[in-house]
Formats: sequence, structure tokens, C-alpha cells
Amino acid sequence: MWHTPESFGKHWLTMTSIYERLGGEEFFIELVRGFYSRVSDDPVLRPMYPSDLGPAERRLRLFLVQYFGGPNTYDQERGHPRLRLRHMDFVIDQRARDIWLSHMLASLDDLLSGEGRPTSAEDAEILRDYLRDTSQFLVNHGGLSILQR
Ligand code: HEM
Repeated sequence: MWHTPESFGKHWLTMTSIYERLGGEEFFIELVRGFYSRVSDDPVLRPMYPSDLGPAERRLRLFLVQYFGGPNTYDQERGHPRLRLRHMDFVIDQRARDIWLSHMLASLDDLLSGEGRPTSAEDAEILRDYLRDTSQFLVNHGGLSILQR
């Protein structure tokens, strides 16, 4: 994936090492695992996903690992992320987005409150900002929701 300082915006300076600071792959394995365990019980989101959540979990993990500066296995396996395009098959309205985000932030909170995980407040905010903004960007149904936060 090709990124420029502009495409990372305000996060550019910190982006190169945040993956290491968070604890590398293990952090993202746990983040995504906690997220999908919530999705698996969710009446709104669960029907959108295939019956086997394993491959979806892997794709999201590889994507986040790559985005935050880890290995680019996602690109090698899937090509350019084109996230909006890849989500067009799913009806993502404001409610679905809000639920998605709440599961992700809950999983993140679990991780950050766990022992032996000294994540700085700044790094935690970078993660939360990114998840909020990107999930809002993927809303593709229901009007001008891209203007809401
Ligand atoms: C806004 C709410 C969202 C909903 C309802 C949603 C739903 C879905 C669904 C149903 C899939 C297909 C599952 C599969 O991979 O088989 C998917 C794939 C994916 N989603 Fe989301 N998603 C949302 C937000 C996000 C966000 C914010 C990100 C990234 C930060 C993301 C990253 C991905 C990735 C990387 C894939 C796999 C793409 C591929 O390589 O095919 N999604 N999503």
C-alpha cells in the first residue's frame, strides 16, 4: 500500500512506530478477537457476515496490522484495501456503524485496561480517532450521515 504524509495527516509522525509501541501483532490479534466475539452475538451485525467468522477476522487483523505500520501481508493477499468499495455490498447505515464502533471500542477498552499493557493516552486516542473516522467513512446508506460523528 502506498501512503504519503498527506494521507496519514496528523498521525504521520507517530505512525511509523505505533505498531511496535502497541506490542506488535499480539495487540491486533486480541483487539480483533474481542471485536468478533461481540459481533458473533450481535443481532444487527452478525447476519451481515459469512457463517465462518474466521477468515473475516483474519482480514481485519491483517489490515489493521498493515495500516498501523506492521507487515504488509494484507496487501500481498488482498491487494489495495479499497475499503469503501469492498463495503458496498453491505448496507451500512448510521446504526450499523455505531454498533460496529461500539464493539470495537469495547474490545479496545478491554485491552487497554488489561495488565501489562502500558499504552500511552496519545496512542489510545490515535486508535479511537482512526476507528471513529474510518467507520464513519464507510457509511453508505441513509443520507448525509458522513457529516455526523
Ligand atoms: C462501519 C461498520 C462496518 C461494517 C458493518 C463492516 C462490515 C464488514 C463486512 C460484513 C465484511 C465482510 C466480511 C469478510 O471479510 O468476509 C467486512 C470486511 C472488511 N472490513 Fe468491514 N465493516 C465496517 C467497518 C470497517 C472498518 C472501520 C474497517 C477498517 C478499519 C473495516 C475493515 C474491513 C476489512 C479489511 C474487510 C475485509 C476486506 C477484504 O479484504 O475483502 N471494516 N466488513
